[in-house]
Amino acid sequence: MNSQSPEIHHSMQGASGQVSWESPANIALIKYWGKHPVQLPMNPSLSFVLKKSVVRICIDYAIQAGQASGFTGFLINGRENKSFSERIALFLRDVDPHFSFLKHATLKISSESTFPPATGIASSAAAFSALALCLCSVEAKLNNTAPEGSVFFRKASNIARLGSGSACRSVYPGMVVWGQTKSVSGSDDHYAIPLKPETVAPVFHSLQDSILIVNSSPKKVSSSKGHAMMHHHPYREARKEQAFSNLDRMLRAMQTGDLDTFGEVTENEALSLHSMMMSSSPGYVLMHPNTFRIIELIREFRRQTAIPAYFTLDAGPNIHMIYPQKEVEKVRPFIKEEVLPLCEDGKWIDDGMGNGPRHEA
Ligand code: DP6
Repeated sequence: MNSQSPEIHHSMQGASGQVSWESPANIALIKYWGKHPVQLPMNPSLSFVLKKSVVRICIDYAIQAGQASGFTGFLINGRENKSFSERIALFLRDVDPHFSFLKHATLKISSESTFPPATGIASSAAAFSALALCLCSVEAKLNNTAPEGSVFFRKASNIARLGSGSACRSVYPGMVVWGQTKSVSGSDDHYAIPLKPETVAPVFHSLQDSILIVNSSPKKVSSSKGHAMMHHHPYREARKEQAFSNLDRMLRAMQTGDLDTFGEVTENEALSLHSMMMSSSPGYVLMHPNTFRIIELIREFRRQTAIPAYFTLDAGPNIHMIYPQKEVEKVRPFIKEEVLPLCEDGKWIDDGMGNGPRHEA
Protein backbone atom coordinates (compact mmCIF):
# COMPACT_ATOMS: atom_id res chain seq x y z
CA MET A 1 0.00 0.00 0.00
CA ASN A 2 1.35 3.39 -0.82
CA SER A 3 0.53 5.80 1.96
CA GLN A 4 3.40 8.15 1.18
CA SER A 5 2.35 11.64 2.16
CA PRO A 6 3.00 14.73 0.02
CA GLU A 7 6.21 16.69 0.57
CA ILE A 8 6.28 19.21 3.37
CA HIS A 9 4.50 22.39 2.38
CA HIS A 10 5.79 25.89 3.12
CA SER A 11 2.89 26.62 5.42
CA MET A 12 3.92 23.72 7.64
CA GLN A 13 7.25 25.32 8.49
CA GLY A 14 7.34 26.51 12.04
CA ALA A 15 4.07 24.74 12.75
CA SER A 16 3.71 23.32 16.22
CA GLY A 17 0.94 21.89 18.30
CA GLN A 18 -0.37 18.98 20.24
CA VAL A 19 -2.42 15.90 19.36
CA SER A 20 -3.81 13.24 21.63
CA TRP A 21 -5.63 9.93 21.19
CA GLU A 22 -6.85 7.30 23.59
CA SER A 23 -6.83 3.81 22.11
CA PRO A 24 -7.84 0.41 23.50
CA ALA A 25 -6.33 -3.06 23.67
CA ASN A 26 -8.10 -5.75 21.67
CA ILE A 27 -8.77 -9.44 22.15
CA ALA A 28 -8.51 -11.74 19.14
CA LEU A 29 -11.08 -14.48 18.63
CA ILE A 30 -9.36 -15.70 15.44
CA LYS A 31 -5.66 -15.48 16.16
CA TYR A 32 -2.86 -13.80 14.23
CA TRP A 33 0.04 -16.19 14.67
CA GLY A 34 2.88 -16.21 12.16
CA LYS A 35 3.94 -13.34 9.90
CA HIS A 36 6.23 -12.42 7.03
CA PRO A 37 8.05 -9.15 6.31
CA VAL A 38 7.07 -6.47 6.92
CA GLN A 39 4.58 -7.32 9.67
CA LEU A 40 2.19 -9.02 7.25
CA PRO A 41 0.08 -11.78 8.74
CA MET A 42 0.24 -15.44 7.77
CA ASN A 43 -3.55 -15.65 8.13
CA PRO A 44 -6.52 -13.34 8.71
CA SER A 45 -7.55 -12.59 12.30
CA LEU A 46 -10.62 -11.15 13.99
CA SER A 47 -10.92 -9.23 17.25
CA PHE A 48 -12.85 -6.65 19.21
CA VAL A 49 -11.55 -3.73 21.26
CA LEU A 50 -11.91 -3.44 25.03
CA LYS A 51 -13.43 -0.64 27.05
CA LYS A 52 -11.26 -0.23 30.14
CA SER A 53 -7.82 -1.31 28.96
CA VAL A 54 -6.67 1.81 27.13
CA VAL A 55 -3.54 3.88 26.50
CA ARG A 56 -3.65 7.64 26.00
CA ILE A 57 -0.85 9.21 23.97
CA CYS A 58 -0.10 12.86 23.60
CA ILE A 59 2.40 14.22 21.09
CA ASP A 60 3.78 17.76 21.19
CA TYR A 61 5.23 18.47 17.77
CA ALA A 62 7.28 21.23 16.19
CA ILE A 63 8.09 21.28 12.48
CA GLN A 64 11.15 23.06 11.18
CA ALA A 65 12.17 22.27 7.60
CA GLY A 66 15.86 21.75 7.13
CA GLN A 67 16.28 20.85 10.77
CA ALA A 68 17.10 17.27 11.77
CA SER A 69 14.14 15.48 13.30
CA GLY A 70 14.20 14.41 16.89
CA PHE A 71 12.36 12.39 19.43
CA THR A 72 12.85 13.66 22.93
CA GLY A 73 11.86 10.64 24.92
CA PHE A 74 8.86 8.62 25.82
CA LEU A 75 7.14 9.04 29.15
CA ILE A 76 4.79 6.40 30.53
CA ASN A 77 2.63 7.72 33.34
CA GLY A 78 5.16 10.53 33.78
CA ARG A 79 8.21 8.24 33.89
CA GLU A 80 10.94 7.54 31.34
CA ASN A 81 10.75 4.03 29.94
CA LYS A 82 14.01 3.16 28.23
CA SER A 83 13.10 -0.11 26.56
CA PHE A 84 9.80 1.19 25.21
CA SER A 85 11.56 4.39 24.10
CA GLU A 86 13.93 2.29 22.02
CA ARG A 87 11.00 0.46 20.44
CA ILE A 88 9.32 3.78 19.65
CA ALA A 89 12.53 5.13 18.09
CA LEU A 90 12.67 2.09 15.78
CA PHE A 91 8.98 2.49 14.98
CA LEU A 92 9.46 6.17 14.06
CA ARG A 93 12.33 5.18 11.78
CA ASP A 94 10.15 2.50 10.11
CA VAL A 95 7.20 4.82 9.53
CA ASP A 96 9.31 7.74 8.32
CA PRO A 97 8.63 7.02 4.61
CA HIS A 98 4.89 7.37 5.28
CA PHE A 99 5.00 10.89 6.76
CA SER A 100 6.93 13.62 4.97
CA PHE A 101 6.77 15.89 8.06
CA LEU A 102 8.60 13.39 10.28
CA LYS A 103 12.00 14.27 8.82
CA HIS A 104 11.54 17.83 10.01
CA ALA A 105 9.70 17.22 13.25
CA THR A 106 10.68 17.26 16.89
CA LEU A 107 8.31 15.13 18.94
CA LYS A 108 7.71 14.88 22.63
CA ILE A 109 5.60 11.84 23.35
CA SER A 110 3.91 11.07 26.63
CA SER A 111 1.56 8.27 27.50
CA GLU A 112 -0.81 7.23 30.24
CA SER A 113 -2.23 3.79 30.58
CA THR A 114 -5.18 2.44 32.49
CA PHE A 115 -3.69 -1.03 32.44
CA PRO A 116 -3.58 -2.09 36.03
CA PRO A 117 0.05 -2.60 37.06
CA ALA A 118 1.37 -6.17 37.32
CA THR A 119 -1.35 -7.95 35.40
CA GLY A 120 0.74 -9.24 32.50
CA ILE A 121 -1.75 -7.76 30.03
CA ALA A 122 0.08 -6.46 26.95
CA SER A 123 -0.42 -2.78 26.26
CA SER A 124 1.49 -2.63 22.96
CA ALA A 125 -1.60 -2.87 20.70
CA ALA A 126 -3.20 0.05 22.55
CA ALA A 127 0.04 2.07 22.60
CA PHE A 128 0.95 1.62 18.93
CA SER A 129 -2.58 2.26 17.72
CA ALA A 130 -2.73 5.48 19.78
CA LEU A 131 0.68 6.50 18.47
CA ALA A 132 -0.30 5.80 14.85
CA LEU A 133 -3.54 7.79 15.27
CA CYS A 134 -1.54 10.69 16.73
CA LEU A 135 0.91 10.71 13.81
CA CYS A 136 -1.96 10.64 11.32
CA SER A 137 -3.59 13.48 13.26
CA VAL A 138 -0.44 15.61 13.06
CA GLU A 139 -0.44 14.99 9.31
CA ALA A 140 -4.13 15.91 9.08
CA LYS A 141 -3.54 19.14 11.04
CA LEU A 142 -0.66 20.09 8.78
CA ASN A 143 -2.82 19.39 5.72
CA ASN A 144 -5.82 21.17 7.22
CA THR A 145 -8.02 18.09 7.01
CA ALA A 146 -10.17 16.44 9.65
CA PRO A 147 -8.83 13.38 11.52
CA GLU A 148 -11.70 11.14 10.44
CA GLY A 149 -13.03 9.03 7.59
CA SER A 150 -12.06 5.67 6.17
CA VAL A 151 -8.85 6.88 4.50
CA PHE A 152 -7.61 8.36 7.79
CA PHE A 153 -8.32 5.21 9.82
CA ARG A 154 -6.96 2.91 7.13
CA LYS A 155 -3.66 4.75 7.18
CA ALA A 156 -3.61 4.72 11.01
CA SER A 157 -4.21 0.97 10.95
CA ASN A 158 -1.45 0.43 8.38
CA ILE A 159 0.98 2.50 10.49
CA ALA A 160 -0.04 0.83 13.77
CA ARG A 161 0.68 -2.56 12.17
CA LEU A 162 4.31 -1.58 11.71
CA GLY A 163 4.64 -1.12 15.49
CA SER A 164 2.82 -4.31 16.48
CA GLY A 165 0.71 -6.45 14.17
CA SER A 166 -2.31 -6.74 16.45
CA ALA A 167 -2.30 -2.93 17.00
CA CYS A 168 -3.77 -2.43 13.53
CA ARG A 169 -7.06 -3.91 14.81
CA SER A 170 -7.35 -1.39 17.66
CA VAL A 171 -8.33 1.62 15.54
CA TYR A 172 -11.97 0.54 15.09
CA PRO A 173 -14.94 -0.29 17.29
CA GLY A 174 -16.94 -3.50 16.84
CA MET A 175 -15.66 -6.65 15.19
CA VAL A 176 -12.52 -6.05 13.15
CA VAL A 177 -10.76 -8.21 10.56
CA TRP A 178 -7.10 -7.95 9.60
CA GLY A 179 -5.68 -9.99 6.74
CA GLN A 180 -6.80 -10.72 3.24
CA THR A 181 -9.56 -13.26 2.82
CA LYS A 182 -12.12 -13.84 0.09
CA SER A 183 -14.76 -14.01 2.81
CA VAL A 184 -14.53 -10.31 3.76
CA SER A 185 -14.69 -7.82 0.94
CA GLY A 186 -12.05 -5.09 1.24
CA SER A 187 -9.92 -7.11 3.69
CA ASP A 188 -6.19 -6.55 3.36
CA ASP A 189 -2.91 -7.74 4.87
CA HIS A 190 -1.72 -4.15 5.32
CA TYR A 191 -4.54 -2.81 7.47
CA ALA A 192 -7.58 -3.92 9.39
CA ILE A 193 -11.18 -3.11 8.48
CA PRO A 194 -14.33 -3.11 10.62
CA LEU A 195 -17.04 -5.67 9.89
CA LYS A 196 -20.26 -3.99 8.83
CA PRO A 197 -22.45 -3.90 11.98
CA GLU A 198 -25.40 -5.31 10.03
CA THR A 199 -23.39 -8.50 9.36
CA VAL A 200 -23.00 -9.09 13.11
CA ALA A 201 -26.00 -10.23 15.19
CA PRO A 202 -26.92 -7.94 18.14
CA VAL A 203 -25.70 -10.40 20.79
CA PHE A 204 -22.13 -9.87 19.51
CA HIS A 205 -22.31 -6.08 19.75
CA SER A 206 -21.82 -5.99 23.50
CA LEU A 207 -19.72 -8.93 24.61
CA GLN A 208 -18.22 -9.05 28.06
CA ASP A 209 -14.55 -9.95 28.53
CA SER A 210 -13.65 -10.82 32.12
CA ILE A 211 -9.87 -11.06 32.17
CA LEU A 212 -8.79 -13.57 34.80
CA ILE A 213 -5.20 -12.92 35.84
CA VAL A 214 -3.59 -16.27 36.48
CA ASN A 215 -0.02 -15.02 36.37
CA SER A 216 1.41 -11.57 35.75
CA SER A 217 5.11 -12.43 35.28
CA PRO A 218 6.71 -11.31 32.02
CA LYS A 219 6.40 -13.91 29.25
CA LYS A 220 9.23 -16.41 28.83
CA VAL A 221 8.94 -16.17 25.04
CA SER A 222 7.79 -12.94 23.37
CA SER A 223 5.05 -12.92 20.74
CA SER A 224 7.59 -11.75 18.16
CA LYS A 225 9.72 -14.84 18.81
CA GLY A 226 6.60 -17.01 18.73
CA HIS A 227 5.57 -15.59 15.35
CA ALA A 228 9.10 -16.25 14.03
CA MET A 229 8.91 -19.89 15.07
CA MET A 230 5.93 -20.34 12.75
CA HIS A 231 8.25 -19.96 9.71
CA HIS A 232 9.46 -23.55 9.88
CA HIS A 233 6.66 -24.94 11.97
CA PRO A 234 5.70 -28.50 10.95
CA TYR A 235 1.98 -27.59 11.19
CA ARG A 236 2.29 -24.20 9.49
CA GLU A 237 0.13 -25.01 6.46
CA ALA A 238 -2.48 -26.86 8.52
CA ARG A 239 -2.69 -23.92 10.95
CA LYS A 240 -3.12 -21.50 8.08
CA GLU A 241 -5.95 -23.55 6.63
CA GLN A 242 -7.55 -23.87 10.05
CA ALA A 243 -7.49 -20.10 10.62
CA PHE A 244 -9.16 -19.39 7.26
CA SER A 245 -11.80 -22.00 7.86
CA ASN A 246 -12.38 -20.92 11.49
CA LEU A 247 -12.81 -17.33 10.31
CA ASP A 248 -15.45 -18.45 7.81
CA ARG A 249 -17.32 -20.40 10.47
CA MET A 250 -17.04 -17.45 12.86
CA LEU A 251 -18.37 -14.96 10.29
CA ARG A 252 -21.38 -17.18 9.60
CA ALA A 253 -22.01 -17.68 13.32
CA MET A 254 -21.84 -13.94 13.91
CA GLN A 255 -24.23 -13.23 11.10
CA THR A 256 -26.81 -15.72 12.32
CA GLY A 257 -26.35 -15.18 16.07
CA ASP A 258 -25.13 -18.76 16.51
CA LEU A 259 -23.51 -18.62 19.97
CA ASP A 260 -22.64 -22.33 20.05
CA THR A 261 -20.46 -22.14 16.95
CA PHE A 262 -19.05 -18.79 18.07
CA GLY A 263 -17.94 -20.40 21.33
CA GLU A 264 -16.64 -23.58 19.76
CA VAL A 265 -14.48 -21.64 17.29
CA THR A 266 -13.30 -19.15 19.93
CA GLU A 267 -12.06 -21.94 22.21
CA ASN A 268 -10.59 -23.91 19.32
CA GLU A 269 -8.53 -20.89 18.27
CA ALA A 270 -7.19 -20.36 21.80
CA LEU A 271 -6.15 -23.98 22.20
CA SER A 272 -4.68 -24.09 18.68
CA LEU A 273 -2.58 -21.00 19.37
CA HIS A 274 -1.07 -22.66 22.42
CA SER A 275 -0.64 -25.99 20.59
CA MET A 276 1.44 -24.12 18.00
CA MET A 277 3.68 -22.87 20.82
CA MET A 278 4.01 -26.32 22.37
CA SER A 279 4.88 -27.92 19.02
CA SER A 280 7.33 -25.17 17.95
CA SER A 281 11.04 -25.83 17.90
CA PRO A 282 11.95 -25.48 20.71
CA GLY A 283 8.51 -26.05 22.18
CA TYR A 284 7.34 -23.91 25.06
CA VAL A 285 4.33 -23.61 27.34
CA LEU A 286 2.90 -20.24 28.36
CA MET A 287 -0.12 -21.67 30.16
CA HIS A 288 -0.06 -22.17 33.93
CA PRO A 289 -1.63 -25.14 35.76
CA ASN A 290 -4.40 -22.79 36.89
CA THR A 291 -5.09 -21.85 33.26
CA PHE A 292 -6.17 -25.47 32.68
CA ARG A 293 -8.17 -25.56 35.90
CA ILE A 294 -10.09 -22.42 34.94
CA ILE A 295 -10.73 -23.74 31.41
CA GLU A 296 -12.30 -26.84 32.98
CA LEU A 297 -14.32 -24.72 35.41
CA ILE A 298 -15.70 -22.57 32.59
CA ARG A 299 -16.69 -25.63 30.56
CA GLU A 300 -18.33 -27.20 33.59
CA PHE A 301 -20.17 -23.95 34.41
CA ARG A 302 -21.46 -23.88 30.83
CA ARG A 303 -22.60 -27.51 30.99
CA GLN A 304 -24.46 -26.94 34.24
CA THR A 305 -26.06 -23.56 33.54
CA ALA A 306 -26.32 -23.50 29.71
CA ILE A 307 -24.94 -19.95 29.90
CA PRO A 308 -22.92 -19.30 26.73
CA ALA A 309 -19.64 -18.39 28.44
CA TYR A 310 -16.39 -19.27 26.66
CA PHE A 311 -12.68 -18.78 27.12
CA THR A 312 -9.95 -17.44 24.95
CA LEU A 313 -6.25 -16.81 25.63
CA ASP A 314 -3.68 -14.50 24.18
CA ALA A 315 -0.01 -15.42 24.19
CA GLY A 316 0.10 -15.92 27.95
CA PRO A 317 -1.50 -17.76 30.88
CA ASN A 318 -4.40 -15.38 31.54
CA ILE A 319 -7.95 -16.27 30.58
CA HIS A 320 -10.37 -14.01 28.78
CA MET A 321 -13.87 -15.20 29.64
CA ILE A 322 -16.19 -14.08 26.86
CA TYR A 323 -19.99 -14.02 27.20
CA PRO A 324 -23.03 -11.91 26.30
CA GLN A 325 -23.43 -8.83 28.44
CA LYS A 326 -26.90 -9.86 29.57
CA GLU A 327 -25.35 -12.77 31.50
CA VAL A 328 -23.12 -10.55 33.67
CA GLU A 329 -25.16 -10.95 36.86
CA LYS A 330 -25.17 -14.74 36.56
CA VAL A 331 -21.50 -15.06 35.66
CA ARG A 332 -20.10 -12.72 38.32
CA PRO A 333 -20.84 -14.98 41.35
CA PHE A 334 -19.23 -17.91 39.49
CA ILE A 335 -16.08 -15.87 38.87
CA LYS A 336 -15.92 -14.57 42.43
CA GLU A 337 -16.57 -17.87 44.15
CA GLU A 338 -14.94 -20.45 41.91
CA VAL A 339 -12.40 -18.74 39.68
CA LEU A 340 -10.79 -15.95 41.69
CA PRO A 341 -9.20 -18.38 44.20
CA LEU A 342 -7.19 -19.66 41.21
CA CYS A 343 -6.13 -16.17 40.10
CA GLU A 344 -2.97 -14.41 41.22
CA ASP A 345 -3.96 -12.47 44.36
CA GLY A 346 -7.58 -12.81 43.18
CA LYS A 347 -6.89 -10.35 40.34
CA TRP A 348 -9.26 -9.83 37.43
CA ILE A 349 -10.37 -7.05 35.11
CA ASP A 350 -14.06 -6.93 34.33
CA ASP A 351 -13.84 -5.54 30.84
CA GLY A 352 -15.96 -5.74 27.72
CA MET A 353 -16.38 -4.53 24.20
CA GLY A 354 -15.58 -0.84 23.84
CA ASN A 355 -16.37 1.92 21.38
CA GLY A 356 -12.93 2.21 19.82
CA PRO A 357 -10.34 4.98 20.01
CA ARG A 358 -11.14 8.51 21.11
CA HIS A 359 -9.68 11.68 19.65
CA GLU A 360 -8.83 14.07 22.44
CA ALA A 361 -7.00 16.97 20.80
C1 DP6 B 1 -1.52 -14.17 20.32
O1 DP6 B 1 0.73 -8.31 17.69
O2 DP6 B 1 1.84 -8.87 19.87
O3 DP6 B 1 -2.18 -11.93 20.69
O4 DP6 B 1 3.28 -8.21 15.57
O5 DP6 B 1 5.19 -9.18 16.84
O6 DP6 B 1 3.95 -7.20 17.77
P1 DP6 B 1 3.88 -8.46 16.92
O7 DP6 B 1 2.93 -9.48 17.70
P2 DP6 B 1 1.57 -9.22 18.44
O8 DP6 B 1 0.96 -10.70 18.38
C2 DP6 B 1 -0.30 -10.96 18.94
C3 DP6 B 1 -0.56 -12.40 18.96
C4 DP6 B 1 -1.80 -12.84 19.68
C5 DP6 B 1 -2.95 -13.06 18.70
C6 DP6 B 1 -3.67 -11.85 18.18
O9 DP6 B 1 -3.74 -10.80 18.85
O10 DP6 B 1 -4.24 -11.99 17.07
